Parts: sequence; structure tokens; C-alpha cells
Amino acid sequence: QRNTQPIYRNPGAWFVLRYEDVKTVLQNHATFSSQPDEKRGNPTNPLRSSILSLDPPRHHQLRGLVQQVFTPRAIARLESRIEENVHHFLNQVSPQGKMDVITDLAFPLPVLIIAELLGVPFEDREQFKHWSRNLFEGNPSLIASTQQEMKTYFLQQMKNRLQEPKDDVLTALLHAEVEGEHLSENELAAFCILLLAAGHETTSDLIGNAFYCFLEYPEVFEELQAHPEGIPAAIEEMLRYYSPVKTLPRYATQDVVLGEQPIRAGEMVCPFFASANRDETQFPDADTFNIHRTPNRHLAFGAGIHACLGAPLARLEAKIALKIVLDRFGRLSLDRSMPLQLKSSSVVFGLKQLPI
Ligand code: HEM
Repeated sequence: QRNTQPIYRNPGAWFVLRYEDVKTVLQNHATFSSQPDEKRGNPTNPLRSSILSLDPPRHHQLRGLVQQVFTPRAIARLESRIEENVHHFLNQVSPQGKMDVITDLAFPLPVLIIAELLGVPFEDREQFKHWSRNLFEGNPSLIASTQQEMKTYFLQQMKNRLQEPKDDVLTALLHAEVEGEHLSENELAAFCILLLAAGHETTSDLIGNAFYCFLEYPEVFEELQAHPEGIPAAIEEMLRYYSPVKTLPRYATQDVVLGEQPIRAGEMVCPFFASANRDETQFPDADTFNIHRTPNRHLAFGAGIHACLGAPLARLEAKIALKIVLDRFGRLSLDRSMPLQLKSSSVVFGLKQLPI
């Protein structure tokens, strides 16, 4: 499809598949906006007020409020906490060495870390999982009702912070001001929903997909056991090969020609990160998994003004988790007693379970 119809009309949207075109869309936010116009979607949907769906200047003002929390330097301080928890989760694995990678490690690790950063209780993780599943796999009405439930939850958490401020993102957002004004309730809720959902679902998919790569390519597992310094480059290849985020929509703000395809103002355009990452013109032998690929300019974290805020955190969690697994486990084998199933989501790409 990428070679024959690189930009094709799917009902309701243009699907953009080539690396160069995806990059053009991501880097031109003035022409390809992330902000749906008033007529689209549900105006009470809190996520419409999140940075993911805003244009500048509001996007920059709000993103700036949390940027310092997610810099590589700030994130490096979490290293020992992440290590401690990877060991803790692996210590729960049965003595026979059987585990479900997703339930036992890939899900709880990122949830714990993002919950601590935000300042919400890890004990509510099953609720977060349920909400996240609804957000990524549900129909529009389920997505809308889930967002309302999450909004109520976060506003209640913030109310508690008014009495008892803490050193967490929730307290910081509550007190933050932009041009002398506090954030609206919708903006506060949207920020928390986005950070919670984006902060764990995608990283969980990265860790799950990484294990799947190890099962598919046992020689890579062995190579990294002998040369753990290769782990960061291997993670970049895992992000490229099995990209956790497939696409997120844009809206043309004016008539424009992309590639050779005319697109009209107001039409939806979906840049496919996952397809761009398999484009042969950018990645020779794109369908080959090669942890020594250089350069590896994948778009798994997007590009342009909406490029992933949490990339340093996701990379660090994955690096520590894989390093400890490579160190503690002799070898991995798939438990074939149940069929593997992918999440049924048009946004994220990952497995529902991975028994090993
Ligand atoms: C944005 C992927 C982990 C927070 C994005 C975008 C992508 C992405 C592709 C761009 C969306 C667009 O262009 O519309 C991923 C992947 C992750 C990951 C593959 C893990 C492997 C995280 C984590 C956080 C996070 C751990 C936690 C804080 C965000 C936020 C945005 C974003 C807040 C919106 C940025 C903006 O609109 O300015 N992510 N992400 N992500 N990501 Fe991530």
C-alpha cells in the first residue's frame, strides 16, 4: 500500500504512509493541526483540552508547565526506583519461571512510575487499566463516559491537594498559572488523563513488544546478555520495528497538496508512525529487525511540536527492565498453551498477554 497508494482515502480520513510525508505532516502544525474544530467530536470531551489536541500558543504554554518533570536529567533521578521495582515484580514470578510478561511486568512498572509522578495511588491501578482499555479500545460513547469518570476522579484528587499539597505533578498543575490565570477544570483533568494514559499504556506496549522480539530473535537475547551496552540501540530498533503508537489524527487548516495528493481544508489526515518506520527509502531492509541499524531516525515518538514528552522516561524504564531481565533470566520461551492476541486499538500496538 505504501508504494502503490502512499496517501489514500479511508472513510473519513486521509491515511499517510510514507516517511517523508508523515514527517511533513508532523512538522507543519500550522497546516496540519492537532486541534479538532468546534464541529468535530464531543465539545465536553476533556481530552480536547489536552496538549495533544491543542495548537500554539496554548499548547506551548501548557506543555511548558510540565516540561521540567520529564527532561532526561529529571528522569534519571528515578533510576533506582525503577530498578527496585523491576526486581520486586520479577521476584513475584513463580519458582517454575512462568509469567505473563504484560500482567507481571510490562503493565505494573510504568503504571507505578507515572502514578508516583502524578501523585495518585498505585492501589488504583486496576481502575487505571480499565479506564485505559476503554480509552484505547472503546467506542466513542464509552470513551466519552470514561473521560468523564476520570475527570471526576482527578478533580477529587486535586481537591485533596488543596488541603494537603504534595511534591507531585497534580499539586504543581493545580497551582500553575499561565498569564496570571489558573488552568480550567477541563484543562487540569485533560492533562492528568493524558499523562496517566500516555504514560503507561505505550511504555507497557514497548516492554511487551521487546520481549516478543526476544522470543522471535533468541540470538539477539544472547547477544545483549553478552553485550548489555547494546540495549539502548536495541530499544530504538524495537520502537521502529513494532511501534507502540500507530497514528494520531491531524486536521488540514487550508487546502494543501501533500505528496501529489490534494487535501481540502477541514479534512482529517492520519500520519502513520508505524508505516513510516518501515519505509524502505529511509530504512534499508526495513522489514529486517537489526539492532545495529545506524542511523535509526524512527518516528515512534512523533516529531515536531507534539513530539513525545515522555520519551526519556519510556526509554529509561525499558532500558532498566531489559537489562535486569537479561541479567536474571537464562533464556525465554513462549508458553504456547494460549493464542497470542493483539489489542484491538486503532492507536496503540501491543499484546494483550504474553505468557512465557
Ligand atoms: C506524545 C509515543 C511514552 C506522554 C506522543 C506522540 C507519540 C508518542 C507518537 C506524538 C503524538 C502526536 O504527534 O500527535 C509514545 C511512545 C511511548 C510514549 C511510543 C512509549 C514507548 C510516553 C510517556 C509519557 C508520554 C511515558 C509520560 C509522561 C506524552 C505526551 C504527549 C505525547 C504528554 C503529547 C505531547 C504534545 O502534544 O505536546 N507520544 N509515548 N508518552 N506523549 Fe508519548
